[in-house]
Amino acid sequence: MSTPSTILPTAMDHVQVAHFDAHEDFARHLDTMDTLAKFRTRFTIPNLQSASASVYFVGNSLGPMPLEARALLNEELDDWAKLGVEGHFHARRPWYSWHEQVREPLARLVGAQPHEVVAMNSLTTNLHLMLTTFYQPEGRRTKLLIEKGAFPSDIFALRSHVAARGLDPDVHVVEVAPREGAWLLEEEEIEAECARLGDTLACAVLPGVQYRTGQAFDLARLTRAVHSVGARCGFDLAHAAGNMDLQLTASNCDFAVWCSYKYLNSGAGAVAGCFVAERHGRDTTLPRHAGWWGNDPKTRFQMSDRFVPVSSADAWQLSNPPILALVPLLASLRVFDEATMPLLRRKSIVMTGYLEFLIRDALGANAQILTPASASRRGCQLSLLFKGNARERYNTLTQAGIVCDYREPGIVRLAPAPLFNTFHEVWRAAAAVTSACI
Ligand SMILES: Cc1ncc(COP(=O)(O)O)c(C=O)c1O
Repeated sequence: MSTPSTILPTAMDHVQVAHFDAHEDFARHLDTMDTLAKFRTRFTIPNLQSASASVYFVGNSLGPMPLEARALLNEELDDWAKLGVEGHFHARRPWYSWHEQVREPLARLVGAQPHEVVAMNSLTTNLHLMLTTFYQPEGRRTKLLIEKGAFPSDIFALRSHVAARGLDPDVHVVEVAPREGAWLLEEEEIEAECARLGDTLACAVLPGVQYRTGQAFDLARLTRAVHSVGARCGFDLAHAAGNMDLQLTASNCDFAVWCSYKYLNSGAGAVAGCFVAERHGRDTTLPRHAGWWGNDPKTRFQMSDRFVPVSSADAWQLSNPPILALVPLLASLRVFDEATMPLLRRKSIVMTGYLEFLIRDALGANAQILTPASASRRGCQLSLLFKGNARERYNTLTQAGIVCDYREPGIVRLAPAPLFNTFHEVWRAAAAVTSACI
């Protein structure tokens, strides 16, 4: 058996399969060595099996509840009960400036400056707000670029913006597809599409991590490709925030949006996130939808009829924030801050590599792993495409207590999350996958 200590501190793209061992005691050994294992106790892990503990591998869909959320929520309810309207300024976390509580931890999580991020609305709402600002068709420059197979909500949003400007979505929304028969869209293909579109490209909305395949993209490289033809570049980070060690400021992208109910464990329909690059936050002349919470707080209560945007990402806020809905995000970000994204990512690389090592041979001709094999091109999700009886095999997994999900056509997604999953759970999931393939 190899020594786990040689794996965890050096977990990088070069972690070799040879480091791993298929015996159950090796999985337990990894858990003993794992300095992040303690964070599991900060969540309530749903047990969806009555007989034995289930393995919750769907944090990429809906993360578990951070325990502290309940206590924090009670504090807000107590303050509301006690203080009523006075809570805006006298609650223990005054509601007037409440959203500022999550600003710095959110910025650390996505590699941004605090004034570049804001927690507000939902992902799709934020995408609409961003497109209002960053999609400005003019002359030949009218095209919006997205990947083929993007999450439908994103495509709906893009098409509706094109239609709202009186243009034909079938012409002006361009979907870049992987080559015939391939599942993965290579960065070169996006670069080539940007070059082909040239000065007709107005804006691109690209994935951080593809939701179906788990493929991670190089944000800085894609941003360069989009900028090289004079267009604006934004990202959908629904599957990247809290999963990848993002460096949004350094990527130089113009904007990004993400939801908080997946890897950010903030509850169904949680308050989402939005990144606006500093250069745009400072530009108070940009076109945008306006609301009083985007006004400079210094003059907000002067009740003027002229909007004065604050010079940061906060300027895209519309309404006063939903305090009760924001509470789980604060609870979750506190755990991320303690664990830190770089360390979580290192553990994640090992965990996903371990899962791949354990299942690769068992899959044989029954299934293929769609997710890229290179650690730098994936997060903590492996997508298995079953060649036949996919539904049945998925049912076998769930009956074995492996909580995973199914996406047409025949894709099972397994997501070991480094914040709360264990190496022994990876081993159990791999054993179930092996049985499902017999
Ligand atoms: C990649 C991706 N984009 C967009 C969305 C839509 O998110 P929302 O319903 O929070 O707007 C989802 C939801 O799962 C998603 O996975």
